[in-house]
Amino acid sequence: MTNAELPTAANPGPFGHKQRKNFLFPENYTQFNHGSYGTFPKVVQDDIRAFQDRCEQNPDRWNRCDLFTYMDDIRTQLAEFINCDKAELALVNNTTAGVNTVLRSLPFVPGDRILVLSTGFIAVNQTVRYICDAHEDVKVIEVPVTFPLSDKDLLNKVEEALKAHQELKDGSRIKLGIVDWISSVPSVIHPVKELVELLHSYGALVYVDGAHTIGQVPVDLGYLRPDFYITNCHKWLFSARGSALLYVAKRHQHLIHPISITGDYNSGFEKEFSFLGTQDYSSILSILTALKFRKQYGEDAIISYTHSLAIEGGKAMAKILGTHTLTRDDDDKVANMVNVALPIKDLKHPKANNADFMKIMLDKYNLYTPAFIHGDHLYTRVSAQIYLELEDFVRLANIWKEVIEGLNASS
Ligand SMILES: Cc1ncc(COP(=O)(O)O)c(C=O)c1O
Repeated sequence: MTNAELPTAANPGPFGHKQRKNFLFPENYTQFNHGSYGTFPKVVQDDIRAFQDRCEQNPDRWNRCDLFTYMDDIRTQLAEFINCDKAELALVNNTTAGVNTVLRSLPFVPGDRILVLSTGFIAVNQTVRYICDAHEDVKVIEVPVTFPLSDKDLLNKVEEALKAHQELKDGSRIKLGIVDWISSVPSVIHPVKELVELLHSYGALVYVDGAHTIGQVPVDLGYLRPDFYITNCHKWLFSARGSALLYVAKRHQHLIHPISITGDYNSGFEKEFSFLGTQDYSSILSILTALKFRKQYGEDAIISYTHSLAIEGGKAMAKILGTHTLTRDDDDKVANMVNVALPIKDLKHPKANNADFMKIMLDKYNLYTPAFIHGDHLYTRVSAQIYLELEDFVRLANIWKEVIEGLNASS
């Protein structure tokens, strides 16, 4: 397919509502929040069940032999998908586990500092705080970030923090920086290559939190060259919940062990991560079917459609709501999740919080998009996906308009 032939919001090709038959949604439900938990096509569900059946038919053959062949095949295919060496990949259950695996393995010593952005995912930043609490004189350096920011301004903020730390000359060192590739709320694509290079130039290791990346943006680790990288496959790749991919550069592998130590302790990175204890591995194995499902359309086609829909859908919503998207016309900052400002008059309204909005959206309208305050605005994050069309965004905007107008009338 040439660029001009790739599907877009205006020309969905094989995507849009015709995809609904491939997923499990009931007639009356539209999924606008793929970003939080993902969802998988029916063929993936079929294969999860087939894997479970095979396990139950002969648990010994499965857990002692066949499972390893499949796990190996998945790492081979994913290594090709994200351009790295298969020996640098481990399959884990989720990003939280992948972050804990690395942070709880690295030998932190007094004077070590860990740099994070204030917009980092809460579970990740809390894990850093735990590491600080569990070690003497290990501290977090949190860079305050409010979007929208140009790439240059974001990089400047991080560099200012690095320089300010250098000027302390207190004998401490920034051992590790953790940066999002695509943040959660607000959802913004970060200049990840430049962030990796910047942190490396100050001598820090870099962990890229790419929870939202595989399946949403092209990933090329040979180009990015992080020390550590984690991505959920259960978000944008269409595998089942509980499947994620951890990358550990070979030079650090001797330090990294699974969260649960197994009988394979100290037998090398690949072997140690090949079996994480007895569990149902079918969600991890479903990566195989997810990859097969995607291949029939091609990555370029999927990414072209979902990105175009997020951009066009965000603009359509902002027009109906009389507001703007967080990153305005900077379309390169948006992948599939677009943050649309909601026209609330009083940001301090007692019901202007996600818990109250969630109740209204789920109970009254049977849909959900997360709402959050960032900077001076209330936003909602909407996830474009291959089963949605522009008219869904229009419907959602009108619902949000009704909800916010109701709140404005009561303030
Ligand atoms: C940026 C980011 N990091 C980490 C996570 C945690 O992912 P999980 O709950 O799958 O561990 C998320 C989840 O949405 C996320 O958005």
